[in-house]
Amino acid sequence: MRTLIVYGSRWGCTDEFAEFIREQLGDEEFVIFTHIDTQDPPTVADYDRIIMGGSIVYGRIGRKLKRFMEEYRALLLQREIGLFLCTLSGEEHARKLFTKVFPRDLREHAKASCIPGGMVHLEALSPISRRIVTRRFKTLDTRNYEVLKDFARDMKRFKKRTPAS
Ligand SMILES: Cc1cc2nc3c(=O)[nH]c(=O)nc-3n(C[C@H](O)[C@H](O)[C@H](O)COP(=O)(O)O)c2cc1C
Repeated sequence: MRTLIVYGSRWGCTDEFAEFIREQLGDEEFVIFTHIDTQDPPTVADYDRIIMGGSIVYGRIGRKLKRFMEEYRALLLQREIGLFLCTLSGEEHARKLFTKVFPRDLREHAKASCIPGGMVHLEALSPISRRIVTRRFKTLDTRNYEVLKDFARDMKRFKKRTPAS
């Protein structure tokens, strides 16, 4: 199975999650990953499985990841795909954000999807952003690796066969 992980990350949290997913997928997998903000993706059609992830910054996902999903939409719908979103929002709002940033057809087609929380490195932010973020979110580290483990397990699971297939 050839797997491509395409993600966008502003301060490294999604980066870390992408690396963790890669570890969880295991050695038998051939996994390449691409930080979409700084690298061009390899030939996407060469991959059987494509996992896409991004982080929410001021209510939006990165432009390049959005463009990637638009550009490769038709191909993505013919591949096994997984989606993950980093956010500090609580469960209900996080789910709304997930619905907003990932197109419906990709969400419905995804073999697995998850919202594993997020993290802010305050020292990396400007004083203004620091003030906004600390006022807005009670907890600045909601990373949940169990959610990512389940996600990777679901991605690896073989599709159930019906008796007729
Ligand atoms: C300046 C800033 C703005 C953010 N805005 C939002 C937001 O609007 N909604 C939200 O749920 N999380 C927001 N977050 C939380 C990020 O989604 C979270 O920290 C994420 O893990 C960042 O991942 P990254 O380092 O890979 O970019 C914000 C974080 C920062 C630093």
